[in-house]
Amino acid sequence: MSLLAFLTALDTLAAEASQSLSAVSDVEKLEELRVRFIGAKNGQLKSIQKMMGSLQADERPSAGKRFNEVRDAVQSAIDAAAERLGSESQPSRVNGPMVDPTLPGLRPRLGHLHPITQTIEHLKEIMGRLGFTTTEGPEIEDTWHNFVALNIPEDHPARDPLDNFYLTTAGKTAIDPAAPGGMLLRSQTSTVQIRVMEQSKPPLRIISLGRVYRPDAADATHFPMFHQMEGLWVDRHVTMAQLKSVLRMFATSYLGSDVHIRFRPSFFPFTEPSVEVDYFWNDNWVEFGGAGMVDPNVLSAVGYDPEEYSGFAFGLGVERLCMRRFAITDIRDLFRSDVRFLRQF
Ligand code: PHE
Repeated sequence: MSLLAFLTALDTLAAEASQSLSAVSDVEKLEELRVRFIGAKNGQLKSIQKMMGSLQADERPSAGKRFNEVRDAVQSAIDAAAERLGSESQPSRVNGPMVDPTLPGLRPRLGHLHPITQTIEHLKEIMGRLGFTTTEGPEIEDTWHNFVALNIPEDHPARDPLDNFYLTTAGKTAIDPAAPGGMLLRSQTSTVQIRVMEQSKPPLRIISLGRVYRPDAADATHFPMFHQMEGLWVDRHVTMAQLKSVLRMFATSYLGSDVHIRFRPSFFPFTEPSVEVDYFWNDNWVEFGGAGMVDPNVLSAVGYDPEEYSGFAFGLGVERLCMRRFAITDIRDLFRSDVRFLRQF
């Protein structure tokens, strides 16, 4: 065989391979072409290679060089076609970014409980250790539970429409004495004392944590909605000394062992005597709420015998407790729902 014939055979194969491989349109066809051109047994390159044996010895080096070039070119054309067909069968790689499995993963950011919810859970836990079980009451209340049963008479300023969110019922508001079913957003959690006592007999030791509503203009220390923790202990021989002990133990558990507690005489219609509760914390006396011995009129209103039972009640502001502990200075920040702020707690 002449060198010329050999080279011509190679060139023909190279041209044919380049043309068919650049036009091939599916993976099965590509495999057929691969077997036809470079198949190890009967591939065309293989038979051309065999022809090399019949060349003159001095022709072989240049023939071999050309053979290698064509073989490499065909192999590259096959690879290119495989890549093209492979990427077409996976359109996501064409349209979207390639996934790099060596990059570190994206960590999903976990949320957490709102600082007020965290505080509520903490308060329940502390009071639970003192034997208080948690109860709940409705935020939409009737005047009986919010006022009447709590010994708050009709003409008491606490019932003023300007200090309450009354809800109109059939054109009448709850302040209207002729509207017995009148409703309002509860202005205090003391309503829950009544609800619990109406439904159970003493002894009882409960707390209730929830929202209350008063039409105050929002500023750094006021908000028209806030939370209270109400406590109630009714039994035989419950005294004010126990009230003070419970509040002191609560304060030291929640705020720290160096907290002092002070009672200032005060007035609430539903307790007698009544006090304001202050905690001494960070060199300041801070008011946290009100407390007192349950008024005999309240015990009578729920059918308890005030000669047999006595009790104490207290109501503390949850926001104040939360803000003290987390060093938050503006109550409005708690309710702006700005995650950049809330994320810190
Ligand atoms: N309910 C009172 C208030 O909202 C607080 C309080 C509760 C006072 C229980 C005495 C006893 O101001």
